[in-house]
Amino acid sequence: MDTLHIAPPDDWHVHLRDGDALDHVIAATALNFRRAIVMPNLKPPVTTTLLAMAYRDRILASIEKACASGQYSSSEQAILRQFQPLMVLYLTGATSPTEVDRALASGVVHAVKLYPAGATTNSEAGVSDLLGQCSAVLERMQTLGLPLLVHGEVTDAHVDVFDREARFIDEVMVPLRERFPALRVVFEHITTRQAAQFVTEQAGVDASGRQLLAATITPQHLLYNRNALFSGGLQPHWYCLPVLKREEHRVALLDAATSGLPQFFLGTDSAPHARHLKEASCGCAGCYSSPYALGLYAEAFDAAGALNHFEAFASLNGPAFYGLPVNSGRVVLTRNPQDIPERLPFVTDSGIVPLRAGSSVQWSVTERA
Ligand code: NCD
Ligand code: ZN
Repeated sequence: MDTLHIAPPDDWHVHLRDGDALDHVIAATALNFRRAIVMPNLKPPVTTTLLAMAYRDRILASIEKACASGQYSSSEQAILRQFQPLMVLYLTGATSPTEVDRALASGVVHAVKLYPAGATTNSEAGVSDLLGQCSAVLERMQTLGLPLLVHGEVTDAHVDVFDREARFIDEVMVPLRERFPALRVVFEHITTRQAAQFVTEQAGVDASGRQLLAATITPQHLLYNRNALFSGGLQPHWYCLPVLKREEHRVALLDAATSGLPQFFLGTDSAPHARHLKEASCGCAGCYSSPYALGLYAEAFDAAGALNHFEAFASLNGPAFYGLPVNSGRVVLTRNPQDIPERLPFVTDSGIVPLRAGSSVQWSVTERA
């Protein structure tokens, strides 16, 4: 198989940032994905429906700026303008059940995100004791069917960084699901065999047939193991959170993504940081993958001999989970190697380094309709 015809994909986990950074990255997402679940870890975080609505307006204005920039053909502009940002509230100890009501009523907020305090970039305002601080909110989300998106790592400094996701399953995920068995949960950017297994085995559906527990998987966790962080020296552009794990985990994630099971879907976790903030004595966590993500995912599925399950992962399972229609139209990917530049323009002259910069990807998007 050298070409893949699929319904237009969505990105169920992306960081679009704000201001100038947003203007630099928006087109990479909006050209390749019709919709995206937009992470709320701005500074300050998107903690209310009003903030989410204002952020959504800024994203749509950024699309218009891209269209007016002269960089995109009229057919590309038509694709850009179809993009729908799906907003997310950042959960804090102060989030109220009434805020959940407002979120659902707004029609623009599609989930609430749990950042354990201190787990990752801009998580300081997050939650330190989920069941202790947030039970009333979780109760309301369970009743209304609003999904909780989870950054699944414990934050205890004594726990080895490579074990934090597996420990989170026992310490938070299991008690959470026991207490709120009908709460709809996405275990975001899973990185371990334990998480893949947990999401596979805990499968179950609600009264409307929607999955109760799902997971997103990034391109880097399907294509790389932790050796990538250290090959030939310290490689900051492969550093993200949760961090890359051993090969056995990559293989388990690839099995899960390519299984065709409805609870696994695409979420790039594309997390842009300027080059000088990655290539620093204390480099930021996050891989910028949006521009080439679809080709990278197709390459991973191809290597696993599972291109027949690519559309389910990229375009069907996510909408089914979120109760949204599959996108109309068509995207064509071709086994057609494409160079990935060393650097792309970003907010300062330092630019931004995309995932697998200076090399190539075996698949590329050749048609969007
Ligand atoms: C994300 C970011 O930079 O916002 N970084 C990352 O490594 N994935 C935050 C996150 O999703 O953990
Ligand atoms: Zn993320």
